[in-house]
Amino acid sequence: MRRTMDCGALRAEHAGQQVTLAGWVNRRRDLGGLIFLDLRDHGGMTQVVALPEHAVVFEQAERVRSEYVLAVSGSVRLRPQEQRSERLASGAVELVAERLEVLAEADTPPFPIDGSVDAREVNEDLRLRHRYLDLRRPAALAPLRLRHRVTKAIWDYLDEAGFLQVETPLLTRSTPEGARDYVVPARGRPGHVYALPQSPQLFKQMLMVAGVDRYFQIARCFRDEDLRADRQPDFTQLDLEMAFVDADDVLALNEALMAAVVCSATGTQVPTPFPRLAYREAMDRFGSDKPDLRFGLELSDLDDVFAGTEVRALRAGREAGGAVRALLVPAAQAAGLSRKDIDGLEAHAKHHGALGLAWLRRTDDGFGGPLAKALAETERARLMATTRDVGDLLLLVAGPWATACTALGALRSRLRDQLALDVDDSRPVFAWVTDFPLFEEDGVGGWTSMHHPFTSPHEDDLAILKTDPGAVRAKAYDLVMDGFEIAGGSIRIHRRDVQEQVFEVLGIAPEEARARFGFFLDALRFGAPPHGGIAWGLDRLVMLLAGASSLRDVIAFPKNQRGADPLTDAPAPAEPEQWAELGLAVATPMAEVPGAAAVARAEGDVA
Ligand code: AMO
Repeated sequence: MRRTMDCGALRAEHAGQQVTLAGWVNRRRDLGGLIFLDLRDHGGMTQVVALPEHAVVFEQAERVRSEYVLAVSGSVRLRPQEQRSERLASGAVELVAERLEVLAEADTPPFPIDGSVDAREVNEDLRLRHRYLDLRRPAALAPLRLRHRVTKAIWDYLDEAGFLQVETPLLTRSTPEGARDYVVPARGRPGHVYALPQSPQLFKQMLMVAGVDRYFQIARCFRDEDLRADRQPDFTQLDLEMAFVDADDVLALNEALMAAVVCSATGTQVPTPFPRLAYREAMDRFGSDKPDLRFGLELSDLDDVFAGTEVRALRAGREAGGAVRALLVPAAQAAGLSRKDIDGLEAHAKHHGALGLAWLRRTDDGFGGPLAKALAETERARLMATTRDVGDLLLLVAGPWATACTALGALRSRLRDQLALDVDDSRPVFAWVTDFPLFEEDGVGGWTSMHHPFTSPHEDDLAILKTDPGAVRAKAYDLVMDGFEIAGGSIRIHRRDVQEQVFEVLGIAPEEARARFGFFLDALRFGAPPHGGIAWGLDRLVMLLAGASSLRDVIAFPKNQRGADPLTDAPAPAEPEQWAELGLAVATPMAEVPGAAAVARAEGDVA
């Protein structure tokens, strides 16, 4: 019995036709004289009815259970008007079974997949362990369909724009992107490892040296770092690179590509060009280098007001070389914040680096709050001018500029959710963040790259590269979507001497640079074109377009929050023969590896 159409394709106009459907039994209802089977496949669902007059089929239908795989032939008939289902696209008709073949029996699923239980109520590890069952739910499969449309739109657009798709190796050398490498021991060379790529960065740059001109790849990347809802250990980038371009060219191409992708995947029009914010401005106004621009609640600078302050909590922060920054929560929203809520906000600010959170609430005749009494008269007067209404709440953080901004930025995001602020989510809101510093302090007296070591400094800052690294601007840009960093890229260093100077600032000695990146430095000796590019977090983009809250929802077989795969049970112990073959032995028992015992316990590996 070969199927003649998909389960979801039956419509009223098919009434009277003979068809064969194949699929899974979503649910079986036995009404005594009648048995209904909802038959489901990738395209939808149709009600099949087994009648006693077809005795063989009726008997077979009595033995059928949920998730059995069936082929059913019969005639299509209109359902009585009052029994039509609005929920199903094929709800106007049903298939009267005349022949039925059980193609496969099925055990009872470990969790309901027939739509009777909200998936969020099912333990996620259980769903991931049986992901092939989870994906039978149309709602679980929908993000993968969206992902397909996104990828297809990317291919179509870039192909048309003259890009060449090139695959780069997975077994390779380290590509530093700020995370730990996943390494693969090489059997033929004991003590040697391949690294899985954190990104194809160096390969795409070498493709530019090779004259490829416009490259792209939907590339798998691997990063061993702390996991969050928007991070996976293996994830996918749209990676692209262009020769003979400046930053404006890359930004313009990506804006047009993003607008085309969003439109063809979701039908939503996105206006271009995207607004641009300098890093400094993004931090000053929103306390984040990935600001959510869908709502206001901007930060302000109250440094002047508190220049000579006697308020102890603020003075300490200022004296440590810092600034005083504030978030003004208007009275209408602040009314919803109790003393306890403010304590919660303080804990959140501390979690993001602040020493504390000072606050003042405007009253009829001044300010209330623990610090109100310590305010000088001039401070009080200026704060009256800063605030507008009785009930306005000022949240203040004093400290180093970046810390004060970041802590208040974290409060801004938290208040968005806590106060259910009016966020315009009718379409995604994009913005570029530009003019990042090239380096940031590494906390132990040195410098590290804000992006990666191959990012070009601004030409005007080359002279101060070694003398004042903190002031050097990068030709880097990030793309932000609804408060998430969705892409990051830069114009690259294409001169070997500049690349070597950057390594020097990063404290990478020439011998070390040679040992780690010699192959790449060599490539720069043979005539590299000026070039630049970007990489999009494809999983993140699909997550946001799908309205999902975790990357796990948009990846067919994701890792769980602990970086493990509940389906295959990876990572799994290596066999003794594998260790021997690789010339390796486990030197540190699991219990002594920081963090490993806790992970193993959570995985149920050890008692
Ligand atoms: P970057 O490290 O910024 O740049 O990565 C680009 C984008 O990839 C996404 N991303 C991730 N998504 C899921 N899980 C992760 N663990 C993860 N890490 C990053 C983010 C990010 O914006 N080679 C450079 C790009 C370039 O310079 O062209 C790079 O990889 O959305």
